[in-house]
Amino acid sequence: GLVNTREMFAKAMAGKYAIPAYNFNNMEQLQAIIQAVVATKSPVILQVSSGARKYANQTLLRYMAQGAVEYAKELGLEHPQICLHLDHGDTFELCKSCIEMGFSSVMIDGSSKPYDENVALTKKVVEYAHKYDVTVEGELGVLAGIEDDVVAESHTYTRPEEVEDFVSKTGVDSLAISVGTSHGAYKFTPEQCTRNEKGVLVPPPLRFDILEEIEKRIPGFPIVLHGSSSVPQDKVAIINKYGGQLKDAVGVPEDQLRKAATSSVCKINIDSDGRLAMTAAVREVFANKPAEFDPRKYLGPARDSLKELYMHKITDVLGSDNKI
Ligand code: G3H
Ligand code: 13P
Ligand code: NA
Ligand code: ZN
Repeated sequence: GLVNTREMFAKAMAGKYAIPAYNFNNMEQLQAIIQAVVATKSPVILQVSSGARKYANQTLLRYMAQGAVEYAKELGLEHPQICLHLDHGDTFELCKSCIEMGFSSVMIDGSSKPYDENVALTKKVVEYAHKYDVTVEGELGVLAGIEDDVVAESHTYTRPEEVEDFVSKTGVDSLAISVGTSHGAYKFTPEQCTRNEKGVLVPPPLRFDILEEIEKRIPGFPIVLHGSSSVPQDKVAIINKYGGQLKDAVGVPEDQLRKAATSSVCKINIDSDGRLAMTAAVREVFANKPAEFDPRKYLGPARDSLKELYMHKITDVLGSDNKI
């Protein structure tokens, strides 16, 4: 069945790699994820956001994820390591409901609350979740928010002096931190970036100094990076070529994620890159085959493109291939 993150993270820590956490809310995304992990013999975290639950229905998502374990076996992976995780849970009730629904891991994101409230809420979720062997991810520090394609606020980086107190008081199994990533396809404004010789935007580096400070205080404790899409410029170019309008979309360079994966970072969240890959593939079919109207003829190529992207992240960036 589905597994929690405990053993996954212990192995990732020891082996100096990171597990991908891919968001899903439909069948093609899930198929692509499972095909990619079977092809690479790797563990994976399937993430469901509140928005995904609203979009796809939690019961359907739950059985899809449980079915994914059987699907992986059918495809030839004898012992799949698949975790079903709630992404950005914001209340105790939501986490409880997901645990009742069969999730094997939850995130309680109290990062925007005052410190003491974050501690109290996270602790409450941990106490409940651990009774059911469900692991819990907490968060300290706030990722920059995006509004209407504009980076609206600046980051509140994680304060290293808080992490030890937080993990010991709450009992969380992993900690999401803020070291310069943000959600979506516009992680950095052009003003925050420099341009290379080709005129391509180069974002400021992640704050590895803060990560190292955190590692010193809680050595061997699993760290999570949200907002870790790289916004592949070839996908952006295809989207724009076929009628899209993505201007100055910038992500986290893969080299930085490669480096992060060798550290205490055990989970790297990627959603936006998958959205870009699907959209690029669908736009391409629509542009080149305007007479096509069978959804399988555009969702199929989108699925293939997603699988390729997921495999690339696993083998070329996170290093989680051949671990099962
Ligand atoms: O953290 C954000 C994830 O990419 C999920 O996005 O809330 O639009 O489903 P969503
Ligand atoms: P991206 O938007 O960078 O893909 O981040 C996804 C994420 O952090 C989900 O929790
Ligand atoms: Na790691
Ligand atoms: Zn996130």
